[in-house]
Amino acid sequence: MSRASLHCRAMKSIVILISGRGSNMEAIQQRCAAEGWPARVAAVISNRANAGGLQFAAAHGIATAVVDHQAFGTREAFDDALAAAIDRFAPDLLVLAGFMRILGERFVRRYEGRMLNIHPSLLPAFPGLHTHQRALDAGCKLVGATVHFVTPQLDHGPIVMQSVVPVRDGDDADALAARVLATEHQIYPRAVRWFVEDKLRIERGVVRQRDGASQLLLP
Ligand code: GRF
Repeated sequence: MSRASLHCRAMKSIVILISGRGSNMEAIQQRCAAEGWPARVAAVISNRANAGGLQFAAAHGIATAVVDHQAFGTREAFDDALAAAIDRFAPDLLVLAGFMRILGERFVRRYEGRMLNIHPSLLPAFPGLHTHQRALDAGCKLVGATVHFVTPQLDHGPIVMQSVVPVRDGDDADALAARVLATEHQIYPRAVRWFVEDKLRIERGVVRQRDGASQLLLP
């Protein structure tokens, strides 16, 4: 095998799923290009045609596709169409970045061990929606974000990295969301890089970074 084909085989294919602005997708794409990861973002796929992130992807020469969930009668039919669109790009890693659809168990099993999600809370606290308001209502003094492997249970799964953000007096949900999002843009690219560089292993449900790098981003 030639050196060139060996290099090609080592280049991992990343497919990113979005539903909206796609700022996490942008952060991953930019760090991938700037740091020369052994990977490329092969495609960005959205369930919404008007997702802002699609424009960024197209402008950067990344393939885009839309699989509109409203066009399917059942969750399974949508999941199958989505999987077909994804598999055209033979992903080594599927990245959920603000993808606002719940995925069925069959879909999740298909990509198990190679699908990451980011959630704007310190899981296992506050899975689901409205995390920042719920954290404020609970009087939390610390909030944050979590990158985790996806399992069939919503917003669960082995934790790859977390960021911590202190709550300040007078914070509302929007202020908190903005500060947490800034940390998401740091931890998600780092976690994806670790995955494509084979730096992650899961031991009894706990993710270890093989080099012992910190999996916690402090303020
Ligand atoms: C992020 O806060 C992410 O944690 C959540 O949805 C938001 C997506 O933002 N799941 P963006 O589309 O990446 O800008």
